[in-house]
Amino acid sequence: MAPLPPHEITLRFLAAPTDANSSGKVHGGAVMKWIDEAGYACASGWSASYCVTVYVGGIRFYKPILIGQVVEVHAQLIHTGTTSMHIAVNVCSRDPKASEMTHTTHCVIVFVAVDKDGQKLPTLHWEPQTEQDRLLQQYALRLMALRKTIDDEMKPFLTGM
Ligand SMILES: CC(C)(COP(=O)(O)OP(=O)(O)OC[C@H]1O[C@@H](n2cnc3c(N)ncnc32)[C@H](O)[C@@H]1OP(=O)(O)O)[C@@H](O)C(=O)NCCC(=O)NCCS
Repeated sequence: MAPLPPHEITLRFLAAPTDANSSGKVHGGAVMKWIDEAGYACASGWSASYCVTVYVGGIRFYKPILIGQVVEVHAQLIHTGTTSMHIAVNVCSRDPKASEMTHTTHCVIVFVAVDKDGQKLPTLHWEPQTEQDRLLQQYALRLMALRKTIDDEMKPFLTGM
């Protein structure tokens, strides 16, 4: 049997001055871009296809990231549906001279693989392997149920905007 594609990826780099505001703290938008990039790399690696972001929500910025810090953006597939890939992304940072990482941001982002016409493609099924995987999959399923409520709440405001 062919080995499964990778279901996780970590991007590592230094936070640059162009990522930050005048007080030396990285913009939330820059962090969101890194989250999307890591999620994209994870989803594309798993599906071996071009992917698009379908849902980003519940991003929590716990701590600031400073210019010059080492940033790690870890993206991990935690659930697959028929076409959706649910990916947990955690961002950590540290002073390059220190060893301890600080957890700065967390979210779950949903991607779908699409063909050249932008039509969704079925995704390769992901099966949890460890107890931690199973807990993360249950977490993804609970978030999905909560999002249904949020989507219903938002529906009346989606037209005419
Ligand atoms: C991707 C796209 C082709 C999917 O078509 P669609 O008609 O919306 O398809 P669906 O409604 O079936 O949604 C696709 C998947 O996303 C899931 N999804 C939809 N809304 C969701 C939400 N709020 N939260 C989590 N998952 C959601 C669906 O459950 C479905 O997954 P499943 O097949 O595993 O059940 C279309 O939504 C699209 O082109 N969106 C724009 C993508 C984009 O431009 N992204 C930004 C730049 S990359």
